Amino acid sequence: MEIPKNRLLPDTAQINSLGHLEIGGVDTVELAKKYGTPIYLYDETTIRNRMREFITSVRETYPRSKVLYAGKAFLIKKMAKIAAEEGLGLDVVSGGEIFIAKDSGFPMENTYFHGNNKTLEELRFALDAGVGNIVVDNLSELKLLASLVKRRPVNILFRLTPGVDPHTHSYISTGKIDSKFGFQLDSRDLEEAVELVKTVTFLHFTGLHCHIGSQIFDTAFFRMASQIMAEQVVIFTKKWDLPVKELDMGGGLGIAYKPDDNPPTPKEMAVAIADPVGEVCNREGIEPPTLILEPGRYIVGNAGVTLYTVGTIKEIPGVRKYVSVDGGMADNPRPMLYQAEYTAFLANKMDKSPKETVTIAGRFCESGDILINSSLLPMVEYGDILVVSATGAYNYSMSSNYNMCPRPIVIGVSDGRDEVWVEREKYIDLVRLQR
Ligand code: LLP
Repeated sequence: MEIPKNRLLPDTAQINSLGHLEIGGVDTVELAKKYGTPIYLYDETTIRNRMREFITSVRETYPRSKVLYAGKAFLIKKMAKIAAEEGLGLDVVSGGEIFIAKDSGFPMENTYFHGNNKTLEELRFALDAGVGNIVVDNLSELKLLASLVKRRPVNILFRLTPGVDPHTHSYISTGKIDSKFGFQLDSRDLEEAVELVKTVTFLHFTGLHCHIGSQIFDTAFFRMASQIMAEQVVIFTKKWDLPVKELDMGGGLGIAYKPDDNPPTPKEMAVAIADPVGEVCNREGIEPPTLILEPGRYIVGNAGVTLYTVGTIKEIPGVRKYVSVDGGMADNPRPMLYQAEYTAFLANKMDKSPKETVTIAGRFCESGDILINSSLLPMVEYGDILVVSATGAYNYSMSSNYNMCPRPIVIGVSDGRDEVWVEREKYIDLVRLQR
């Protein structure tokens, strides 16, 4: 098997002299022996490389910019620390994510709190925890927030729905008109929100936000959204006398899940977004706002892989060969939720040529628990270590205890060393909260 050239695997992936897959200078087969499987494995170098690449690409294109890491892709204390060290802000969407950020020592003034239904408790918690920016999703939230801010000011942005449909899976497309997220443009609610925000002393309006969707491969959609949002910057600044200091265009940059995927680069995303903003502000004589982008998947997606052990193999002659592994839909629900397609490798047979096409099945009690429909691999045998690539985003963060299976361990590797980031759950953890 070969290491694909499209950065599907972590940057440090290579095949060692034993024919094993090595990541971060660590033999993944040895890692499986040491910790057991499944393992969510993260390459710290790739995470940092992607963060730096993103910041540099945006800054070169549009100097006055900020990059936030979208924690929903994968948030643990270690990730929040890495993001802080690399100079990224953090997009948080729940009390839990705020708690993790705070607990890790993240500079809370650099957090942006999103969500279409932040609860009263979460808003209170956010204010107490010192969350710097709240992205207000709708009029009822604004009213609630106005009644809560009594002691110190908080920055707020309005989330708008630009009406752009990025042709990604409909479950992860969020910016089109029929969406639960954000204010509709030109709506009565938006006008009322504008009036209200001007009357509340402690609500500091700083800007506008949108997020059109995720796993986007065509930057034309970013350009369309940016054009619409830039016109809104003009309306807010000139018509409503609410200068827009920050324009947050969300995340959504696609990544490679298969060897022939060729997603756009952060630079291409930045250019598609920066061009319309620059042009419109120039035309209108408005000071260009700070541009904010919020990548999640791009930062961690290809930095992570999942290691499984091959268990039972069942061949149905003339139909297919099922290869079952010791994980599945509970650690990676994406194939079932979005028909997401993944690529697998045999970590202990990287020096062997692909021989057979098999179906990789999970261990959970559902016929639909199939990780990969058709995977071309060397001869697969019981005990092989199967690696699924690009599982760094929206896997651990969307995992469950289905069938009462403990969640896998999370290991970080860098410079030949491995480190436990999150311990493997144990059976006792399954009953810990039960009375
Ligand atoms: N900003 C906002 C406001 C978002 O809602 C999201 C993702 C992001 C940033 C980060 O987007 P990214 O760069 O990661 O595409 N569970 C789905 C993805 C849901 C994305 C939700 N919002 C999946 O597994 O594909």
